[in-house]
Amino acid sequence: MTVPTIESILHENRLFHPTAEFAQQAQIKSLQDYEQLYERAKANPEAFWAELAEQELHWFQKWDKVLDWQPPFAKWFVDGKINISYNCIDRHLTTWRRNKAALIWEGEPGDSRTLTYAQLHREVCQFANVLKQLGVQKGDVVGIYMPMIPEAAIAMLACARIGAPHTVVFGGFSAEALRDRLNDGQAKLVVTADGGWRKDAIVPLKDQVDKALEDNGAPTVENVLVVQRTQQRVSMEPGRDHWWHDLRQGISSDCPAEPMDSEDMLFILYTSGSTGKPKGVVHTTGGYNLYTHMTTKWIFDLRDTDVYWCTADVGWITGHSYIVYGPLSNGATTLMYEGAPRASNPGCFWDVIEKYGVNIFYTAPTAIRAFIKMGEHHPRSRDLSSLRLLGTVGEPINPEAWMWYYRVIGGERCPIVDTWWQTETGGIMITPLPGAIPTKPGSATRPFPGILADVVDLEGNPVPDNEGGYLVVRYPWPSMMRTVYGDDDRFRRTYWEHIPPRDGQYFYFAGDGARRDEDGYFWVMGRVDDVISVSGHRLGTMEIESALVSHPAVAEAAVVGKPDELRGEEIVAFVTLEGHYTPSEELDKALKQHVVQEIGALARPGQIRFSDALPKTRSGKIMRRLLRSLAAGQDVVGDTSTLEDRSVLDKLREEA
Ligand code: WTA
Repeated sequence: MTVPTIESILHENRLFHPTAEFAQQAQIKSLQDYEQLYERAKANPEAFWAELAEQELHWFQKWDKVLDWQPPFAKWFVDGKINISYNCIDRHLTTWRRNKAALIWEGEPGDSRTLTYAQLHREVCQFANVLKQLGVQKGDVVGIYMPMIPEAAIAMLACARIGAPHTVVFGGFSAEALRDRLNDGQAKLVVTADGGWRKDAIVPLKDQVDKALEDNGAPTVENVLVVQRTQQRVSMEPGRDHWWHDLRQGISSDCPAEPMDSEDMLFILYTSGSTGKPKGVVHTTGGYNLYTHMTTKWIFDLRDTDVYWCTADVGWITGHSYIVYGPLSNGATTLMYEGAPRASNPGCFWDVIEKYGVNIFYTAPTAIRAFIKMGEHHPRSRDLSSLRLLGTVGEPINPEAWMWYYRVIGGERCPIVDTWWQTETGGIMITPLPGAIPTKPGSATRPFPGILADVVDLEGNPVPDNEGGYLVVRYPWPSMMRTVYGDDDRFRRTYWEHIPPRDGQYFYFAGDGARRDEDGYFWVMGRVDDVISVSGHRLGTMEIESALVSHPAVAEAAVVGKPDELRGEEIVAFVTLEGHYTPSEELDKALKQHVVQEIGALARPGQIRFSDALPKTRSGKIMRRLLRSLAAGQDVVGDTSTLEDRSVLDKLREEA
């Protein structure tokens, strides 16, 4: 880990206040209101969350205790009984929202569908009954490997309804990556589709599932439920594979939501870390429901007439929390889009905004940078006047991109919420409340009420204003991850021991560097560990290295991120070869393809650099810091005295 240096920190002083009109109608209307809320939550977090849990959610049975904190293990709303599918659907049915659009869906080939809350209820109940018919019981894990179609959300809600934790695997992951996740989660059933549309082509999801399961690859999986999307020909294994449209025939649409314990597992979501294989991040029911509900309501400043659109994929945490659970729990209209901007249709996002009159738009900096490149005329030629609020997530946003987003998309009237959070945190942690907190381009601003975020050194001492340090959270919050699936010890080591606890104070270590300025604003500077962010997607260098060395030609591999204007970072792999292999263009291609096959296209290295040796310390550790500088084309600065063999470095430099 390297401490972020002050030179790498940007100074940016422009301040943007919400318009009076926006602030007056906002959920949280002024800085003073925010500060009061924040102080109240800080003084007594349990009372703060309990009050909201009572007000905002439906409980079958109230909890006995708000928080049981046995560091680093937290339980929220102990012995409370709740069901998030009930909170997302059923409770709206007895109100005028019954016939409100819950889900608006726009398909890639231009087809579309709208489901009201009543219709969503029917679909989810039927899906849940089909799952039950296939033997899924409370506690059984269900894998979901789906395109961005309504049935992805329906499957998640159906699982939640019957108490079967889901594990959604992003449709861009390979069969191998899918197999690993199904095995780690011991999934009993997989929900998939014949295929999905992605950038004018069909992604053969069912074929990938077949590959993942072949040769008894995932022995716990008993059934595969297949949704028809593309009408692709797929092979269906009798007894194992079932069409959703067949099984739903005649199935009952009555399926009461199972009262779940507040701490029952809601889902596992795999994410990359700095070491080893991806971690199964475990989230539970009650706290997650409350936190995603409150953050959606206050940060996206929801009104009942809004059309809200988050462009993430449900395969990521952003899709879980801010396409499905948070918005639906609030009774909002959430929009889901199957497509992605591409050369053949650079204006597709703006078309969707115009078509549906989207009011709130939440996307990633990498997408914004791509739009900047495609040119202003695309958004300029569409009517974006319905937009009221913009959001970003996934990586630091550079001030230029922020300004472009503000000016061209938001017409200088929409506040921007730059939201910092993680798969592990379950919901947004640091963010403007748009009617209350003035924004500075590039800063996620201030912590959400109840979140005791801080910037500290390795001993846990707060660092002075404007100095770089480690981003931590000092107190549990309702949607924090509970553990790494099946590995409590890894949970403890990864998140709670980097900064050792002292005097009963525990520090949740996020893995990001940050600084706080004199106004208490947080500036997140990016990962301080070996995690790379490509287009906002997290990848562990270790994962990619393992994939590379599993190729027979590769002796050793070291992977680093190189700054990239469009994607944030590009993957650069330094590779040494086994004796009888020599570098070639074919091998370069083959290795890239091998990584795609092992992990997925999102992990494809941008560059492979063949080398006779890698720079190592005397104790044999690869010096990634040097490789990072080399990859970025910078001079190697800092201490190289621990380098075992200096000539390795010189040679690498010559080859560059
Ligand atoms: C980064 C995505 C700066 C950060 C929700 C974090 C950000 C990682 C921001 C989590 C932001 C996310 N500003 N950096 N607004 N949002 N990050 O688990 O490095 O896919 O640790 O969750 O993304 O990525 P994850």
